[in-house]
Amino acid sequence: MPDGPKSLEGKKYPAKSHAHNVLSHLKKKNSAKAQEVSFFISGEDLELYKYCDQTRPFRQNRYFFYLTGNNIPGSHVLYESVKDKLTIYLPNVDKEDIMWSGLPLSKDEAAKKFDADEIKYAADIINDLKGLLSKACTTDINKFNLEFKDYLVEKDDDFFYALDEARAFKDDYEIELMRHAAKITDNCHLAVMSALPIETKETHIHAEFMYHALRQGSKNQSYDPICCSGESCSTLHWVKNDGDITPDKRSVLIDAGAEWDCYASDVTRCFPVNGEWAKEHLEIYNLVLKMQEEVYKLMKPGVEWEDLHLKAHRVLIEEFQQLGIFKNEYSVDEVFKSKASARFFPHGLGHMLGMDTHDTAGYANYSDPDPLLCYLRIRRKLEPNMVVTNEPGCYFSPFLLEETLNDPLKSKYINKDVLDRYWYVGGVRIEDDVLITKDGYEIFTKVTKDPKEISEIVKAAYERGVKSYHNVV
Ligand code: GLY
Ligand code: MN
Ligand code: MN
Repeated sequence: MPDGPKSLEGKKYPAKSHAHNVLSHLKKKNSAKAQEVSFFISGEDLELYKYCDQTRPFRQNRYFFYLTGNNIPGSHVLYESVKDKLTIYLPNVDKEDIMWSGLPLSKDEAAKKFDADEIKYAADIINDLKGLLSKACTTDINKFNLEFKDYLVEKDDDFFYALDEARAFKDDYEIELMRHAAKITDNCHLAVMSALPIETKETHIHAEFMYHALRQGSKNQSYDPICCSGESCSTLHWVKNDGDITPDKRSVLIDAGAEWDCYASDVTRCFPVNGEWAKEHLEIYNLVLKMQEEVYKLMKPGVEWEDLHLKAHRVLIEEFQQLGIFKNEYSVDEVFKSKASARFFPHGLGHMLGMDTHDTAGYANYSDPDPLLCYLRIRRKLEPNMVVTNEPGCYFSPFLLEETLNDPLKSKYINKDVLDRYWYVGGVRIEDDVLITKDGYEIFTKVTKDPKEISEIVKAAYERGVKSYHNVV
């Protein structure tokens, strides 16, 4: 198995400090409740498919992982604030299963690996819960903890708030995990760009990305890779990945991110099929790049995410006027107020990133009546130690734009003849993962987005005549 980050060697995932973070957010929210609170969370367990010697894909409960750093199926955690004690419960040892699955981690090994005050087995849980002064908060009562329900309180708003806020601010350990996930993802994107001659189907791009992620030790993707070409690039989450990549389609978009130790990366790159940018494709690419760059100029603690998102819309409007897609006899302000840009950049500028791709504590308001804001996944000010994505995009979706083109109050700004030249592009999105620092930001993901360099990488692959065993099928 390839190594994780060197800087974390010999260190433990800071579970105890995460419990303290949760407690401190709970205190801020409701100090009375925080005095004697206990948290109990059950991790996910393996589940067999019926009639098949196979389990469902395992994905650890993120709240559980945050309080343990433990990815072992069937585990539980209890944190008692009165004793400041964190106990991890390993699954009871099933001797029959050792023949199939090998030896489980012993209590001693677990004590060395995890940042816990005590390691016990699940059989001890019931007595420990009975001994608490009051019921323990849990995220939800489910099939993995139903037997303990009399000792648990589920879905407490303050508890969720505290967990979500704690997860929103990454500590040094988490930042290293995310840098590592980003590095793996960079390599995968570069590999995809460098192998276009053998990627004649969207599935090939998907396969190339996964192959390189797995080779680097990343067994899970943060989300299903989105691999599209031509007009499919206008579907934001195109995960069918079943189209051909033929030269006439011209544009390719891949949005994919590897995971490391439950921490996500989320990156999008676009490039021309054969390395030669088509005129309109490059124009839209440069426009989106400018949206991203202008956002970076304003990105720092204290800035409202909403203002960054709206800045990106203004850049799109200005550039559309330069290209003639929007008529330039109107002011940018007037077009902005008309919301005519909404369906060309229909998603939000980005989202919180952490263990989940769309991580906690963004506080989206999907019922916001403003079409420029309703899909925005962050509705708060930026603060140091948040990790977010900066992912502007520009799309030409006949379905999405139908309403805009049929609304005279919006379509009056659009030059339909010019717009018609751009449908083939489908869409362009450029996406990077960014840590907010004390006075600015640090971009985790570094794979090139320079259009000239991208073109050279793709063309060089053609010149080398990239071949591999892949192209025998
Ligand atoms: N990959 C999903 C997203 O960018 O939000
Ligand atoms: Mn994203
Ligand atoms: Mn993405």
